[in-house]
Amino acid sequence: MSDREGLPGIRHKLAERLFHWLMAASVVALLATAFLPIVGIRFAWLPLHWTAGVALTLLVLVHIGRAGLVNGLAAMSPRGADLVEVGRAVLGRPADDLAPAKYDAFQKGIHVAVLLAVLVLVATGLAMLVKIDTSLWKRDPAVLSDLSWGYIYVAHGAAALVLLFLVILHVYFAILPEHRAFLRAMIVGRGPALARGGKS
Ligand code: HEM
Ligand code: HEM
Repeated sequence: MSDREGLPGIRHKLAERLFHWLMAASVVALLATAFLPIVGIRFAWLPLHWTAGVALTLLVLVHIGRAGLVNGLAAMSPRGADLVEVGRAVLGRPADDLAPAKYDAFQKGIHVAVLLAVLVLVATGLAMLVKIDTSLWKRDPAVLSDLSWGYIYVAHGAAALVLLFLVILHVYFAILPEHRAFLRAMIVGRGPALARGGKS
């Protein structure tokens, strides 16, 4: 989609770009405060970690609201053509003739994977807030049994490892030279209307 000057149209509105980079900053802060102490870099990680977690929760709530009420869910919803695209990729065949799509099968795939990992992290992380002392409240571990807390901690840690892997994968593909137009679109807004088909 191009405007009258022949420039590419807006791929990501300002609100979505702000969401992406604030969410990325909070996720990087969360992963750093979680994993740096484990590899031996010791600092007071907990206050930074839980405030970044609360910030991520609020950002994701705004994003879900905008996706459902303003932008619509269609562009990011996986469809039959996405399965065909994955099959073609496995066979090394082109997918340009498939239904044109703003996000290709792999972008939708990583979105679903990040979404699931973040929802598990946010749900378990919010529950874990009752286990810590802050200036606003005192810890009260007795609200759940030890076994329940065990499940919550394992789920939080496992989802964190999954998210770490997904972020490394996502950043690797985002900085490849052939994806430069999409990286520019996430910074300045203008970019290709379609990631699959349509030759935009
Ligand atoms: C139930 C939860 C979620 C729903 C329903 C949802 C829905 C969507 C939809 C429909 C889009 C495409 C908007 C468009 O371009 O038309 C989108 C884009 C995106 N989503 Fe989500 N999402 C959810 C959770 C998440 C989570 C947890 C993250 C990351 C922490 C995330 C990160 C992104 C990013 C970075 C984009 C691209 C920005 C853009 O909208 O242009 N999403 N999401
Ligand atoms: C810090 C370095 C990062 C870079 C360079 C980066 C780059 C990008 C770019 C260029 C896009 C847009 C692709 C398009 O226009 O279709 C995008 C989308 C998206 N980003 Fe990031 N991102 C980063 C961090 C993150 C983090 C930390 C997360 C979540 C944990 C994340 C989640 C997403 C999601 C879910 C989308 C939508 C799906 C997609 O288009 O791949 N990003 N990112």
